Amino acid sequence: MITAAEMRRKYIGFFKRHGHAEIKSASLIPENDPTCLFNTAGMQPLVPYLQGAKHPAGRRLTDCQKCVRTGDIDDVGDAVHLTFFEMLGNWSLGDYFREEAIRFSFEFLTSPSELNIPVDMLAVTVFGGDEEAPSDEEAFRIWNSLGIPAERIAKLGRKDNFWGPVGETGPCGTDTEMFYWTGPKPAPQKFDPADKRWVEIWNDVFMQFNRRQDGTYEELAQKNVDTGMGLERITAVLQGKASCYDTEIFGGIFAELDKIRGVAPGAERSASERIIADHLRAATFIIGDGVIPGRIGAPYVLRRLIRRAIREGRKLGVEGLFTARIAQVVIDQYGEFYPELRANAPTILAELEREEKQFAATLDHGMKEFQKLVDRVPAFVEHKVISGKNAFNLYETYGFPIELTVEMAKEQNFSVDLAGYEEAAKKHQEMSRANNEQKFKGGLADHSEQTARLHSATHLLQAALRKVLGTHVEQRGSNITSERLRFDFCHPEKVSPEELAEVERLVNEAIDRDLEITCTEMALEDAKKTGAMAIFSEKYFDRVKVYRMGDVSCEICGGPHASRTGELGHFRILKEESSSRGIRRIKAVLEPKK
Ligand code: ALA
Repeated sequence: MITAAEMRRKYIGFFKRHGHAEIKSASLIPENDPTCLFNTAGMQPLVPYLQGAKHPAGRRLTDCQKCVRTGDIDDVGDAVHLTFFEMLGNWSLGDYFREEAIRFSFEFLTSPSELNIPVDMLAVTVFGGDEEAPSDEEAFRIWNSLGIPAERIAKLGRKDNFWGPVGETGPCGTDTEMFYWTGPKPAPQKFDPADKRWVEIWNDVFMQFNRRQDGTYEELAQKNVDTGMGLERITAVLQGKASCYDTEIFGGIFAELDKIRGVAPGAERSASERIIADHLRAATFIIGDGVIPGRIGAPYVLRRLIRRAIREGRKLGVEGLFTARIAQVVIDQYGEFYPELRANAPTILAELEREEKQFAATLDHGMKEFQKLVDRVPAFVEHKVISGKNAFNLYETYGFPIELTVEMAKEQNFSVDLAGYEEAAKKHQEMSRANNEQKFKGGLADHSEQTARLHSATHLLQAALRKVLGTHVEQRGSNITSERLRFDFCHPEKVSPEELAEVERLVNEAIDRDLEITCTEMALEDAKKTGAMAIFSEKYFDRVKVYRMGDVSCEICGGPHASRTGELGHFRILKEESSSRGIRRIKAVLEPKK
């Protein structure tokens, strides 16, 4: 019986023997892509190379990429859905195409020295053509020539056999998917893609188009192959298990959970147990990649995962702290292949425990408060609703992510007034914005030239920090007097003197390049599309200004700014210190050029 770890080794080994270079999984957090919170597929970190940039490791690559998909987070708990999963992949960057890709897939699946799957357990789909592109006869012919009978090859439409792009633009193409029969043997002669006992195990995408912003497609400069095989799923089907939760992948986690609860192992795992296992495995990996729980973006998804796991724990009668114990199992299990988990273990355990303590302190009160709201509504009321205001109060006061409130409400046949919730949240935001503006006015005391220069320096500073420390760095506060700038940003640890020196050097380099500082007004939507940095806690108006400083910085901002970076003088950091938990503060000045 093949384990997940062996599967990973086998896959990567096979493709290495066929001339592919093994690359390390990229972080779960996409670089330079503010539109995506997490990497959702193996190809995502490779987009620039699929679009033609030269990859340092060559034109044939293979890896096992960490992925997080949160679209169907509410389905977790059933047999197949996972928030975090590993995707095995092999790539051709302008090297081999259809024929070889399919041959590799076939050989890996069926060869006795590889997975040794009997051909009669396999079926495939190929693109059947539509008004935009012809049917993929070549893929059909190749599969058929390898021994897959015609009645096991289904030609399907764009919905099934066209992959990508991730987001609105980028590389994409027709694909061919491979299926494994999980029902009673023998497998039916004719492949019926609607029969759920045929489980998809692998996808080869023939990436030959780039989707443009306007929805049209252009041919990519090079033809690529992008493939994806979900590690948890292939492991489960090859072990003859109905669910990946029944494999050894989750065995250690469940065993620890049993210990925590003081119960004997159950024959079948409940939805609560599966949710805890899935969410805490995902949370461990996410924190391992530098995210800590927070109120927006990826930090918020992380918080949601942890808090939902804690609540499911309560349902199972777990009262004490337990999330870090589960995380330790995950770290031990995966630490060898993903060394970042070991390196960041102290942070992972500490952050989970901190979040758990914080939530636990209010969870019971919040649940009581929630029950009061429910009890207040008489049984005969047909449409029972938790008001938006109350839902927001549960969030603000007790830390219940709105999704959690919705889920709890559903359990008692209530719905939640989501529009009302949005409104309450917006009102709250506007009030704090008014406060901030007051502060901001104090901060940006006048529009004199020096403050405008310091303001421009702040943008260069943020860009440099992201370059040196990583793209998790985001502005959390800014205050400018005519003497100095003060910039707060999220970063989990002290910035070293070497890193500060590099940041200073980068800012001064941008100043020396004397870049033009341009300002364009545009619709907020368009601004986001340009990839301009925005302060996520900020509420923007529909039209915003985007300030660009050459290729160095691009931010949504009210201004004012200098007109060229060359006017800024010499940038010097005075001090780096902690501002609050997870937030660092830099004070810096602009001095006359020496
Ligand atoms: N990018 C393809 C997928 O995620 C392989 O299925």
